[in-house]
Amino acid sequence: MCAFKQPLTLRKTLLGLAVAGTLGATQAQAGDVEVLHWWTSGGEARAANVLKELVEEEGHHWEDFAVAGGGGETAMTVLKSRAMSGNPPSAAQIKGPEIQEWGDLGLLGSLDDVAESEGWDEKLPGVVANVMKHDGQYVAVPVNVHRVNWLWANPEVLEEAGVALPTTLDEMFAAGEAIREAGYVPLAHGGQAWQDATVFETVLLATAGNDFYRRTMVDLDPEALGSEQMIEALENFKRMRELMDDGMSGRDWNIATSMVISGKAAMQLMGDWAKGEFTAAGLEPGKDYLCAPAPGTEHSFTFNIDSLAMFRVSEEADQEAQHTLARLVLEPEFQKTFNLAKGSIPARPDLDMSEFDQCAQKSLEDFQRTADEGGLVPSMAHGMAVRSDVQGAIFDVVTNFFNSPDMSAEQAAQRMVSAAQAVM
Ligand code: GAL
Repeated sequence: MCAFKQPLTLRKTLLGLAVAGTLGATQAQAGDVEVLHWWTSGGEARAANVLKELVEEEGHHWEDFAVAGGGGETAMTVLKSRAMSGNPPSAAQIKGPEIQEWGDLGLLGSLDDVAESEGWDEKLPGVVANVMKHDGQYVAVPVNVHRVNWLWANPEVLEEAGVALPTTLDEMFAAGEAIREAGYVPLAHGGQAWQDATVFETVLLATAGNDFYRRTMVDLDPEALGSEQMIEALENFKRMRELMDDGMSGRDWNIATSMVISGKAAMQLMGDWAKGEFTAAGLEPGKDYLCAPAPGTEHSFTFNIDSLAMFRVSEEADQEAQHTLARLVLEPEFQKTFNLAKGSIPARPDLDMSEFDQCAQKSLEDFQRTADEGGLVPSMAHGMAVRSDVQGAIFDVVTNFFNSPDMSAEQAAQRMVSAAQAVM
């Protein structure tokens, strides 16, 4: 599942000699860059490979440290144990407020030299740049912007069931019944805590709107967490279970996407990394599959920015490899090729989007529109809204409630209040 670091000295020497021979003065030393990520599904692996190839074209060696497990929980556990034993990888996918947690431990190295020579401050929107900085210095580089609140659908299954793509929660529940009667699974889902949380935050937005989402999932306001609106959101969330199938327990998200692709299921609520799976299967949006904002969330955009944070490394050649990686990530070639495969949009708003499909175009438009109107909110389920311990506590409540036939929505709301208070 995960490739632990192997002794690299010999390979490094050989690679160094080879590169010195071919590139001469343009490339002083070949370094190693070990990159921890959890991009292991078909679409994700294609995307990650883009970066590997670019790094290797520059003469450096990419050591892949892929830890399977959607949402990255397992990857983060493995990263912690590697860091505790004093041997972190040189780069790791770390996102949102967690970048600050690693920065506070003093383990991250500065990318300010690269940022300055490449003009990152001018290229990145302020909201994105701020997340990448610790104590005013760049310690991470953004890869993309994912939108979490998407609905994916198989148009043939919808047609067979005689329903249109739902735009509200009520329409979704009604369509679900018709789809079930027509013999299909209405909503493909994988019963894993992070997937439950992904559906939960989307239903919360649809039920109670952007301001309420912010009060609960960002500010952890106890009054809002225990309120009637939260209870209603939890009830709607639990109703989604009726649209799912019995085999969902433990299922990976990309397997759920493949149920939509094959026509076993009609729809999936998932971030746009799901589009990477449709793309990898050679399918076209608007024809072979449909994308739309999750029902009831047209005026919201739950953002999820993937980023690579850099750990301090001692060898000069490795630092060079690490800085090369960071530079490449924000260059137009990587931003385009990677994001076309990953399903996301570029982290830099100044790039040509003409080759991107209609879902990506809509994502960019909605990102800008919701930023102006106030509906651009950080995804709790994907580590953008709160610290990791708070996120873990919310996951526990959400997934226990979703899976327990006995817990009432009132009890779950109360647990949410206690969970947020316990970790504050
Ligand atoms: C998200 C991550 C995405 C994608 C997804 C499924 O948290 O930001 O890049 O990998 O998990 O694993």
